[in-house]
Amino acid sequence: MKNRVSQKFAEIYGQGATLFASPGRINLIGEHTDYNGGFVFPGAVDKGIVAAIRLNGTDKVRAFALDLNESAEFGLAEEDKPAQSWACYIFGVCREIQKRGGVIGGFDTVFAGDVPLGAGMSSSAALESTFAFALNHLYNLGIEKFELARIGQSTEHNYCGVKCGIMDQFASVHGKAGHLMRLDCRSMEFTYFPFDPTKHGYRLMLVNSCVKHELVGSPYNDRRASCERVAAVLGQEFLRGATMEQLEAIKDKISEEDYLRARYVIGEEQRVLDVCEALERDDYETVGKRMYETHWGMSRDYEVSCEELDFLATVAEECGVTGSRIMGGGFGGCTINLVKEELYDNFVKTVTERFAAKYGHEPKVYPVVISDGSRLL
Ligand code: GLA
Repeated sequence: MKNRVSQKFAEIYGQGATLFASPGRINLIGEHTDYNGGFVFPGAVDKGIVAAIRLNGTDKVRAFALDLNESAEFGLAEEDKPAQSWACYIFGVCREIQKRGGVIGGFDTVFAGDVPLGAGMSSSAALESTFAFALNHLYNLGIEKFELARIGQSTEHNYCGVKCGIMDQFASVHGKAGHLMRLDCRSMEFTYFPFDPTKHGYRLMLVNSCVKHELVGSPYNDRRASCERVAAVLGQEFLRGATMEQLEAIKDKISEEDYLRARYVIGEEQRVLDVCEALERDDYETVGKRMYETHWGMSRDYEVSCEELDFLATVAEECGVTGSRIMGGGFGGCTINLVKEELYDNFVKTVTERFAAKYGHEPKVYPVVISDGSRLL
């Protein structure tokens, strides 16, 4: 990817570009908890975005998306928002930096990525983090890492229509090889957790249903609104910290749908904590159990699954896979699976065959390699 991006840059704009990269992410557990002030447990992966960038001394950005073979040119004022949705991510990052007082000018860029789109692995956060990190570096802005993640999140909110939490951008910027990160999305404190399931005879892998996942302007924002309504009835800023008893006590004041959604989130808070505790004891069986609970909670109560993802989790369970669940926002994309080494080959074979027989196309399987966050190459 590095070579392809550099070569294309040289071809279109000439020499002198600097290369930057940011990864996509996985999340072991803690889904739809970030915007509820709860815990998440992500890690960065070995797939991401690479961009070649060179300041051009004008007030225009000229960008080329190598994978799409498309170019865009835009200014840096609010009214210059480009038409292409991919360019809006770059534009949004520039605007959010400017809103924070960062003085930036135009640049030329070519970028490419290998995070599968719509797989729930945060290709958009990888794109935002790449440009936030790069512009901070090239203009010497001195913006703290966490703020770079917020710049990406605000880009989603203000320029892409997704009221996402902080998890994806946080993980992309802060990732560390061999480590997951437990982030408290209320205090924003986080700790790195060494994570190497292979030492204990397990593998972590993703199975991509290839059902396209689309969060923009979508049911994602509705889920968030449900949680905020319930929190308001409870008199809290976030659902975080609410108990099932408190939820039961207000059941007749909220809709059935909001009740089920809040029930999922409150359960998920506890599951993240259980998983962290289980990992301290190398108790992967408990980790796996909680993963299945998350899956069915996301499917039945939070209603962000789909038939194909439920099928993947069911086949995993039938193959004796330790844990399996939808990963990311949902509505398509991947399951994340914790599989015992000796069951791995059989699971891959079985899930591939059975999925293909039912849906007419094979799912894609990716091993998870926990890698570093945003960086200068
Ligand atoms: C998407 C959002 C994140 C988070 C997850 C669900 O990836 O961008 O902020 O809410 O969904 O956990």
